Amino acid sequence: MAFENILVEKTGGVAVIRLNRPKAMNALNGQLMAELAQALAELEADDAVRCLVITGNEKAFAAGADIKEMKDRSFMDVYKTDFITSTWEQVTKIRKPAIAAVSGYALGGGCELAMMCDFIIAADNARFGQPEITIGTIPGSGGTQRLTRFVGKSKAMEMCLTGRMMDAAEAERAGLVSRVVPVADLMAETMKAAEKIASLSLPAVMMAKEAVNRAYETTMAEGVRFERRLFHATFGTEDQKEGMSAFAEKRPPNFKDR
Ligand code: CAA
Repeated sequence: MAFENILVEKTGGVAVIRLNRPKAMNALNGQLMAELAQALAELEADDAVRCLVITGNEKAFAAGADIKEMKDRSFMDVYKTDFITSTWEQVTKIRKPAIAAVSGYALGGGCELAMMCDFIIAADNARFGQPEITIGTIPGSGGTQRLTRFVGKSKAMEMCLTGRMMDAAEAERAGLVSRVVPVADLMAETMKAAEKIASLSLPAVMMAKEAVNRAYETTMAEGVRFERRLFHATFGTEDQKEGMSAFAEKRPPNFKDR
């Protein structure tokens, strides 16, 4: 599939997906989301790719679902096609890590897409919001659930009920983003994190991701039990032997993903 709304670039073990509808603030239309889902599936299957980055441009990560495309749809249109569920959630299904590098607006479906990634690095000009209420609807891509888990009920309620945007500093204070960097350094800083992850044992990275995600789905006791079994499982890998031996021998590890 030739992509028209996203750009995909692979550098070493890192694949960068750039949302690319700059004239529409990267509004997420059906074609863009189908392309994104397809790219994610391909990159997940590509053994050369060990970490993914999703980004936009300096002005906008994405200003939400494409309002002009969806404005005339009926209930039956969106229900029958299972709008959102059918293609938008692919990033939650991949097992490799995905980082969102957010500069400018991350609104509505754009904020929700960033929250579906494993963590968010924000530029200092980033602005996050769920403004759906101001156009007569509500978040539909997980915003009411994920934002609430990230920032707590009070802030999530205020944002979903008023459409107020959060700037990068507030997003960092509230725990929505892992850190804030100057806008000019966003890609360099994100690539540093992605390259670090790509240099590690992929099975260990995947297990760590699976274990952290479990925290959102189960009780503390069950989550810790799940983590403990995955921790034990790493002792069955060559990479754990290599990683610990390399530490003891004061040399860099040579992971083989086995
Ligand atoms: N859908 C379609 N087009 C959009 C868009 C969107 N979500 N956001 C911006 N655009 C378009 C504008 O219509 C405009 O197009 P034209 O040049 O053809 O007029 C172009 O992008 C540039 O936008 P603005 O002129 O509005 O730029 P600005 O700098 O004045 O404002 C903005 C930027 C604050 C992001 C403003 O564009 C805005 O408020 N956008 C809509 C945000 C929004 O409501 N998002 C939620 C969508 S609903 C959703 O996402 C549902 C869900 O949960 C899945």
